[in-house]
Amino acid sequence: MAIEKTFSIIKPNAVKKGVIGDIIKQFEENGLKISAMKLGLISKEKCELFYAEHRERPFFGELVQFMTSGPVVLLCLAGENAILKNRDIMGATDPKKANAGTIRAKHGDNVGENAVHGSDSAASAARELAIFFDKHEICN
Ligand code: CMP
Repeated sequence: MAIEKTFSIIKPNAVKKGVIGDIIKQFEENGLKISAMKLGLISKEKCELFYAEHRERPFFGELVQFMTSGPVVLLCLAGENAILKNRDIMGATDPKKANAGTIRAKHGDNVGENAVHGSDSAASAARELAIFFDKHEICN
């Protein structure tokens, strides 16, 4: 199977709790390698662009407010079947519905503050990686 790349964000609530290491360990133990990584704040403009598909949803303002409220970790993850694998490792969007042992079950607080984001398709992964990383910042 081909090696895929996907995009992940460790969200402000997880950074604040000090579980960056635990989350990265979970990616690595499941065969996902880090191809790029940055820690920092994201701008409101980039955040609105990133979540553009949710612009009309009632939670959009709250989502952007939360995602720009503190530092996040931006990641490019690589591995076999990386997009689906990452979604399995994260668990369901709502931490209450996420399988035991998944990142969201362990570290998510609620559906908005759900600890991590992960791309849902190859097209999303390419779009999302391009928003936050220049090509030369991604290692193979
Ligand atoms: P994420 O994977 O980052 O993609 C979109 C985000 O919107 C999602 O995770 C949730 O954090 C957030 N979200 C989805 N549904 C709701 C909701 N009903 N209320 C608040 N936030 C939501």
